[in-house]
Amino acid sequence: MNFKNESIGSISTFNWKDGGVIGAAGDKHFAVTFYNEKICRIQASRQSEFEHYPFSVILSPEKVNIDGKEDDQQISLKSEHLKVEIQKAPFRLTFKNSEGAILNQDDPAFGISWLGHEVTNYKTLANDEVFLGMGEKGGGLNRRGSSYDHWNSDAFGFDNWTDPLYMSTPFYIGVREGKPYGIFFDNTYKSHFNFGASNNERFTYFSAEAGDLNYYFIQGDTVAQVIQQYAKLTGTCELPPKWSLGFQQCRYSYYPDHEVYNIADTFRNKKIPADVIYLDIHYMKDYMAFTFNDERFPDPKGLIEKLESQGFKVVVILDPGIATKPGYGTYDRGVEEDVFVKYPDGTKYEASVWPGNSHFTDFTSEKGREWWAKELKFYTDLGLEGFWNDMNEPACWGQDVPNLIEFDYEGQQVSHKKARNVYGFQMVRATFEGAKKHIGNKRPFTLTRAGFSGVQRYSAVWTGDNVAGDDHMLLGVRLVNSLGMAGVPISGYDVGGFVGESGPALFARWLAIATFAPFFRVHSMVNVRDSEPWAYGEEVEEISRNYISLRYKLMPYIYTLAYEAHTTGLPLNRSLAVDYYNDHNIYGGSAQDEFTLGQWLLVCPTTSQQQYAKIYLPEGEWYHFFSGEKVNSGHHVIETTLEDLPVYAKAGAIIPMQNTVQTTQEKSDGTLRLHVYFGHTKTEQLYYEDNGSTYDFKDGSFYKRLIQFDGESNSITIEAKEGNFESEFKTLKVYLHGFESDSYELNGESVNYQMEDIRLIEPVTEFDPLPQREKRNYVNRNLKVIETGFSDSELTITWK
Ligand code: NOJ
Repeated sequence: MNFKNESIGSISTFNWKDGGVIGAAGDKHFAVTFYNEKICRIQASRQSEFEHYPFSVILSPEKVNIDGKEDDQQISLKSEHLKVEIQKAPFRLTFKNSEGAILNQDDPAFGISWLGHEVTNYKTLANDEVFLGMGEKGGGLNRRGSSYDHWNSDAFGFDNWTDPLYMSTPFYIGVREGKPYGIFFDNTYKSHFNFGASNNERFTYFSAEAGDLNYYFIQGDTVAQVIQQYAKLTGTCELPPKWSLGFQQCRYSYYPDHEVYNIADTFRNKKIPADVIYLDIHYMKDYMAFTFNDERFPDPKGLIEKLESQGFKVVVILDPGIATKPGYGTYDRGVEEDVFVKYPDGTKYEASVWPGNSHFTDFTSEKGREWWAKELKFYTDLGLEGFWNDMNEPACWGQDVPNLIEFDYEGQQVSHKKARNVYGFQMVRATFEGAKKHIGNKRPFTLTRAGFSGVQRYSAVWTGDNVAGDDHMLLGVRLVNSLGMAGVPISGYDVGGFVGESGPALFARWLAIATFAPFFRVHSMVNVRDSEPWAYGEEVEEISRNYISLRYKLMPYIYTLAYEAHTTGLPLNRSLAVDYYNDHNIYGGSAQDEFTLGQWLLVCPTTSQQQYAKIYLPEGEWYHFFSGEKVNSGHHVIETTLEDLPVYAKAGAIIPMQNTVQTTQEKSDGTLRLHVYFGHTKTEQLYYEDNGSTYDFKDGSFYKRLIQFDGESNSITIEAKEGNFESEFKTLKVYLHGFESDSYELNGESVNYQMEDIRLIEPVTEFDPLPQREKRNYVNRNLKVIETGFSDSELTITWK
């Protein structure tokens, strides 16, 4: 059959319905449905029944007040924030904001079209339109001029141009004439996004190999608002256990058990803080899931307990392939319960992966997920609470899973073509739900390689098999930044590189950058050099200790950010495009790699070989984080050394910190250090605390306070606490950076301040023969510090 492009025709019939319209355009069907004031769903199909995509969207349409109108030319639907105009002949859509500015519109010639089974929506491309997001994708920050596929792939040793990678989040944010909007194309077939690539920018489009055109259009006044609306649609992350935000050491593979004990002891003896040690595939018996190799690990329970007593959690890897070995309990039960994926003739799909010939659990069925969850009890009974979900694209040797194999897909019975992209997502869902069921009131931790939009509800993400190299280090940063704009707030990369070997400088720099990443883990491949923080010589060991200690000092801030990610969907690492999207400087050069941790800490990732770096500081004033020196916005060329990563705190920043501890399970010294950076601005930051490990916070056992800084009326207010958790902090020290006043009042009474020099990071002088480094300012000098009890009631500091 000779397929040609067939565009949707003119509206032949339509009816008003709750929140929208439904109708037909010739033999095509369409629906436009508001989900809330800012989100509108568009469906178009060649079938009278729209296809159902049950995995990503968790928002049900809310009752929205719509002003609906119709004339000869068009139908229009208007909520408080979003107007959708539907041109009747031919069917074309225009989205406008409440002021009538166009946010997005269908291409007049092609609009929604079909080419064979492939469905595409062509959109006009405005002159200055910027495209952001797309999740785990290489390339530039502004996606304009590029195209991408979504088809979860095992991309061993990928680079900046490898596409697709492991994870698919077919969601992008456009900024047109300064106004942001989002489009989530909820179709799980292989999809393609073209942002004006190779068509002389005639149009931009997205398409899927088959299925319906099914997308959600999001209006947001800012990029951050679009991300938050997307999080309403597809969910936010659960509040992670605090230990999963600590430093994590991984290796393919630590075994036998005494090697694991040795690693744990070395961290503690060397006073390098750490929370997690991973067991990669060699812990299993013949790589079979839900087993322990009893020669290498004769007493897994004992190992987990011993490590727990040292403040470590153990996380084990889990692959989806189940060895086809009769007599292997998991396999036998899987066959009996009929949970494996099959060919259309009813025989089970078999492919080779680590354990040899394997079947693959059908995680797209409730039965498959429940079975997997039950199997997981093997681990949770041993005391495990953390699970690393690997190879779940799914990957197998040869990497060419035949498309005819069938998946349940919540009762739809579909082929691999529709199911592949959600396979990993549903695997980690099964793991998360199983772990949650088995470990009582505790919060499990799950990590996944593959996923689809919504995966953040169940898991953190790591970016797979990266390569030891400076450019890969920066690529990892961009992937994490981009995942953050696609609703995945907690992700990270293998520090040091998985494939190949880092040298000392690269490892040190990578680790410094990752100190500010949401998920912070060193990992490397089998048969490469050792890659622990002490494996690269004493200088790197010191640098690593410095940065990892800083991570633990920042934990009150990082944990609060994780809580905010859980409640709002905003990522921990924010590309400059989140808060400064209308500043076009951010789309060029190294500014594309920069990010902020929360709102306040700007990190400029520079490579390990650079002696000078060009960095960009967006609007506002900034303070060098380690010296306190004030710097203006704009481009700067700075000297870089291995031990000081360029990090800046924004004027108005409010950053809660604590003393260094060796593990998040260790109690602090009881003093919360609140660092406030002066600026002529008004800012606020939440402070959040709970027991870090259980779901008690859902019943009110949390400690939450809003902190406000007002540089115009000269006050810092820490509002009274909410929640009934007792803070672990008894004393509060407020560090005033850049404050000139000499007279302060605390709750209206005059109060004395101390002068203090502090180091947020130690110099590495012994290894530093160069005299100019002596001058390097690691000390924040002469800081004014107000010390008081950390009472639960409102506290205000004012100055004249
Ligand atoms: C592939 C994963 O991406 C990697 O992190 C892991 O070490 C190996 N599989 C072995 O399990």
